[in-house]
Amino acid sequence: MANANQNPSQNTTTRPRISFLGCGYLGATYAICFAELGYEVIGYDVDTAKIEAFASGTVPFHEPGLPELLKKNLESGRLRFTTDVQAVADFADVHFICVGTPQRKGEPGADLSYIEASVVDLSRHLSRKVLIVGKSTVPVGTASWVQELVDRHAPEGLGVEVGWSPEFLQESNAMHDVLRPNRIVYAAQSEWASQLLKDVHRGILELAAVEDREVPVVETDLATAELVKVAANAFLSTKISFINAMADLSEAAGADVVDLAKAIGYDQRIGNKFLRAGIGFGGGCLPKDIRALSARARELGVGESFRFLDEVDAVNTRRRTHTVRSVANLVGRTSGPNGPDLSGVRVAYLGATFKPDTDDIRDSPALAVARKLRAARADVVVYDPEGLENAKAEAPELSFVKTLAEAVAGADVVCAMVPWEEFRTLDPEALGQQVAERRILDGMNAFDPERWRSHGWTYQGIGR
Ligand code: UDX
Repeated sequence: MANANQNPSQNTTTRPRISFLGCGYLGATYAICFAELGYEVIGYDVDTAKIEAFASGTVPFHEPGLPELLKKNLESGRLRFTTDVQAVADFADVHFICVGTPQRKGEPGADLSYIEASVVDLSRHLSRKVLIVGKSTVPVGTASWVQELVDRHAPEGLGVEVGWSPEFLQESNAMHDVLRPNRIVYAAQSEWASQLLKDVHRGILELAAVEDREVPVVETDLATAELVKVAANAFLSTKISFINAMADLSEAAGADVVDLAKAIGYDQRIGNKFLRAGIGFGGGCLPKDIRALSARARELGVGESFRFLDEVDAVNTRRRTHTVRSVANLVGRTSGPNGPDLSGVRVAYLGATFKPDTDDIRDSPALAVARKLRAARADVVVYDPEGLENAKAEAPELSFVKTLAEAVAGADVVCAMVPWEEFRTLDPEALGQQVAERRILDGMNAFDPERWRSHGWTYQGIGR
């Protein structure tokens, strides 16, 4: 049995043992990647089915490269998964909290109940001094509340500390973002915790050194570390809504938003990333994070400064009705006060996930538009390379098919909505021979309009 108050960095030299609580996209990817970096790792979740899947070498979601890395690291013996919180408390020197912080039902703020449950449960099982590090995206101020929870529920006198270290991983690129991040940010409340956080991140810096890269490290206070993540996501969301607003203007004025984005993106102060106009942003982070930030700013009395974020959200949501109107225009139906009537229109609908290379359909703009088309009485046949099962569970009123060929057969209009490789490489002539009418809505802005038009297609992009 370990001694209470034992300094973990003393008995583990520079490789503290790590746990990740919550094995969703975030926690599972971190657990697997940190084992790959040479750390001894345990992944914990209350969901038995999920833990059984990981323990037997199966990743229960689609993330490129992750299944291979999971198998490799299970075999190495450095990686374990469990539902036993006592085993987690006994094992790790540093515990990362990676549970979900979804939007509260009917409210803009974040639901912190999973954070509370995991922290209280872990604290009650601790028997020595450890560091608990928040990684989930939270409203600023959460870390101090977590420290209070720990103080109240951990056995007296252990001196357990709370730190914070936001993550920036993008689904579909998650492994890369963990192993080769573009920055590391953390906050500690003591020298002891600061050293431990250095030790925890040493593997990332060593890999960077071997590859002749540099990873900047920003050490800051708890509140700033919490804010960094939401600030980054708010900025990215603002960029996307900005370019989507420009798309509306481009459409109205006969300009081309793709060329516009390219041209302004060459200015390094602006940059060319996150300027792809389309059907709007979705996923498990951006939409809920901007709402939570705006709500938290209101709670702290600075809501006025964040009104623009509500507009960023509104611009994003309006993409969906706008896209339905574009489909109606393509098939020659006018929109009434409640939108168009699309009865009798067979839509080949390509894409259901919130972006390519994932099976995640959380807040997916593509799926939302498909449902709106169905509500307008269109016959919507959806195909997606990886997201069909999740989409079917979420939107049972839609028809789903397992191949692109089935989706496009006899279609009156093709809606190409998510830039999966399989869709971006479509050949206009080959596709033209399968559909009833050569009409395409390029919701990805991935095609060359002239090329498609030259094959007899009526082409409509977004903002061009
Ligand atoms: C995001 C952040 O990028 C990541 O740093 C954070 O840790 C979690 O949230 P993710 O949700 O995986 O990551 O998706 P991201 O790749 O950022 O895309 C978000 C949405 O924006 C997608 O729906 C995507 O299609 C859309 N998007 C992105 C655009 O519409 N235009 C763009 O130019 C870029």
